[in-house]
Amino acid sequence: MLEPDRETGETVHIRFDETLIAARPEDTLATALIGAGELMTSRSPKYRRPRGAYCLAGDCGTCLVRVDGRPNVRACMTPVREGMRVSSQNTYRPRRLDPTAIVDKVFVKGMDHHHLMVRPRIANQIMQEFARNLTGFGELPEVVGERGCEHIAHELPVLIIGAGPAGRALAARLREAGIDHAIVDRLDRPQLRAAPALGAEAPALAPVEDVLADTGVFGVYPGPKLGLEGEEEGPDRALVAASEGGESSNHERLYAFRPRHLVFATGCREPMIPFANNDLPGVVGARGLLAALRRAGSRLSGRCVVVGEGEAAEG
Ligand code: FES
Repeated sequence: MLEPDRETGETVHIRFDETLIAARPEDTLATALIGAGELMTSRSPKYRRPRGAYCLAGDCGTCLVRVDGRPNVRACMTPVREGMRVSSQNTYRPRRLDPTAIVDKVFVKGMDHHHLMVRPRIANQIMQEFARNLTGFGELPEVVGERGCEHIAHELPVLIIGAGPAGRALAARLREAGIDHAIVDRLDRPQLRAAPALGAEAPALAPVEDVLADTGVFGVYPGPKLGLEGEEEGPDRALVAASEGGESSNHERLYAFRPRHLVFATGCREPMIPFANNDLPGVVGARGLLAALRRAGSRLSGRCVVVGEGEAAEG
C-alpha cells in the first residue's frame, strides 16, 4: 500500500470497475490503484495469470487497463484525471473470480486443444470458438476515429532520445556550444522531475522544460540513400518517428525527425528477477517504484520484502 508523505489537499476521483477511488492529482493510474490496494489490473490472455504493474516505467506492459473505453492503456504512464472510467482487462466480474480455473481442475495434466475433439469437425469448431472466447480476445475501443492527429516534420543537427542524466547533460553541452538539437522522452515532465537528484560532482543538466516530454519514439528507419552509383551527394539521414500525446489523450502529435546525428541515451530496463510467481501482482521493480513514489509524493506503508541489493533496493 502507499500513503501520502505530503498533503496536497486536492482529490481526483476515478472509477476502477465498480470501485470509486480517491486519488491525488500527482498520481498516475498505477499509483492510484496501488494506493487503493487494487494490485490486479488484468489477466494474461492465454494462461489467465493475474497481472499488475511491475516496472512502473512503461517497459513491461503488465499494467494495461481500459480507460474511457480505450483498451491497452499503460496505467503507469497515464496521469489520473477527474471522472476517468478505468476497467480491468480480460477479467470477469467480480475481478478475482476466474471461472476458467475449472479447466485446470478437469485437465490436470494440461489441455492440448490442438488434439481435443478433432472429430467431428463441427465439434472441433465449437470447442475452438468456446476455448478462444474463454481465454479472451480483448475488446475493441468504444469509439474509433475520434482522436485528432497532427504531423510535424523536423530536420535538425542532433536528436537525443532519452532525457535521463546522460541525455540532459549532453543537451546542456550542446546548448552551451550553440548547436541546435532536440531531446525527447516518453516520460511526462512530472516523471522526469521524479528522477533521483545527482551528487554535487554531476555535470549540469538541461532543464526538464527543454525536453519534448510524453513523446515516445516508435521507429528509427534507415535514410533513403541506398549507396547506388550516381546517387546524389548529401546527408543520409535516418527517419525517427515519435508520438506525443499519451495513450489516453484525444490528441496525438506525430513527429518525423530527420537528425544529422542521433544519440541514444535510453538507459536500461528493470530486469525481472527469476523466482516462482514473479509475475504476480504486488511484485514490482524497485527503480520504477521509487520514481513512482517520488512523483506521487507517497511512501510505502505496511510490510514489503526487498530482494536484491544496490542503490534501488536500499532506497
Ligand atoms: S509498463 Fe506499466 S508497469 Fe510496466
